[in-house]
Order: sequence, then structure tokens, then C-alpha cells
Amino acid sequence: IQPDYQAISKWAAGYVAARIRKAQPTADKPFVLGLPTGSSPLGMYKELIDLNKKGLVSFKNVVTFNMDEYVGLPQEHPESYYSFMWNNFFSHVDVKRENVNILNGNANDLEEECANYEAKITSYGGIDLFLGGIGPDGHIAFNEPGSSLSSRTRIKTLTTDTIIANSRFFDNDVNKVPKTSLTVGVGTVMAAKEVLIIVNGHNKARALYHAVEGPITQMWTISALQMHEHGIIVCDDAATFEL
Ligand code: GLP
Repeated sequence: IQPDYQAISKWAAGYVAARIRKAQPTADKPFVLGLPTGSSPLGMYKELIDLNKKGLVSFKNVVTFNMDEYVGLPQEHPESYYSFMWNNFFSHVDVKRENVNILNGNANDLEEECANYEAKITSYGGIDLFLGGIGPDGHIAFNEPGSSLSSRTRIKTLTTDTIIANSRFFDNDVNKVPKTSLTVGVGTVMAAKEVLIIVNGHNKARALYHAVEGPITQMWTISALQMHEHGIIVCDDAATFEL
């Protein structure tokens, strides 16, 4: 628990940088990082860019897999997760383009796209560190309430709550928000060697309560983290309101 958003962003970035440095990744044995979008990780991305510019961490031998992507939104749309990642992170660090993996929500065969994504993660020996945020309903990636806790990458319909929450990025118009997504599963995230979840603000307090003090249930998919041997939550004071 950190006092505020800036502190959690610094803490998370410091943790990621330390992990990458410790692994001493090479082209043959890269560090495999799972990445989220959303406002929660934005501060951490800024800090990581800063650390990269100062030469304190390099992403040259880091392979990334993003959590999720909207279905049917053009890649160049400003709210696609592809745009989010390149605008807020990848374009500003020394990551190699060929090492960046983001689900293609416009693939001809979406099921094949999901299966290939899982296979590619496996081909790297799994994810070393999966970073994430959570929705106010406790969803991780786009694993909405009711998602199987052993789910893998697949197509997922967004709940009305998530469509309303994300409409803030689409002119507050729910009709403009895509209704389906491709997302890694809860099982995909939990199979990572380490998982680090960033939670900030009052509107996540209920989700944090269910994550930490509630039972493990598919209705609050983040609660699966309780079973992870190396699961970390970094949060601000405001998010702990219901603990
Ligand atoms: C979306 C993303 C999630 C993210 C959530 C919360 O639903 N698919 O990965 O955790 O939004 O976003 P924010 O951090 O902006 O609150």
C-alpha cells in the first residue's frame, strides 16, 4: 500500500526494471512481460520510459504480450489497445517491434488468432511477469464476471458495466464502444511466474476488497490471484477503503 498514485507508479516501475535487470535477458533468452492498458498503468509506463532514457533498464531483449484488444476496432483508431500501447509506451522505449505481441481484433479467424497467441506464449516458455489493472467489477484483462478461472485466450463479450465504464474513451457514447474483445484468460495470467496488479482510487475499493478478502470466485475474476504463489497487488490508500 502506497500513499498515492505517483508512489504506486514508481514502485511498480522499479519492480519491473529490477526484475528485467536481474534476469539479464539475451536475444536467445528474452524476458517475457505481460502488459495491460488502461489508466491504472499509465503512471508506471511514464516511469519506465524515464528509467529507459536514463539507461537504468533496457527492453531490447524483452518480449511483450498484451492482455487484450477490442474486436473490430481499426488498429489506427486512437482507442484501440494497439494505439494505446504504441502511443503511451512502445514508441518511447528501446523495445524491438518484432518482440511486441498484441492480439489482432481484426483477424479473419478470431479463434485461430487466440490459439496462436497462446501457442506463442508457450513457445517462449511462458510469461515471466504479468502486469495488470482491474475493472471496478474486479475483472482482469477482459475476463468479465462469470469467466472461468482456468480460461485461456478467447473471444469475450463485454458486460454492460464495462461498456459504460469504457464509454468515457468513446465520447461518452456507449454505442461507439465495441461489444466484444479478444482477451487472455484468467488461466493465462495466473500461469505467469509472477503477477503484479496495480489498483488505485476509490472506485476500485470494492474490487480490491473482493480480490483480497472475498472468496475465490469467477464473479470477481481478480480473486484468482489469491491462489498465485507470486501474486502482488500495489495499491494506493484510497483503494483500501473497504479493506
Ligand atoms: C479495461 C481493460 C482492463 C483494465 C480496466 C480498468 O476493461 N480491459 O485491462 O484493467 O479497463 O481500466 P482503468 O485502469 O482505466 O481503470
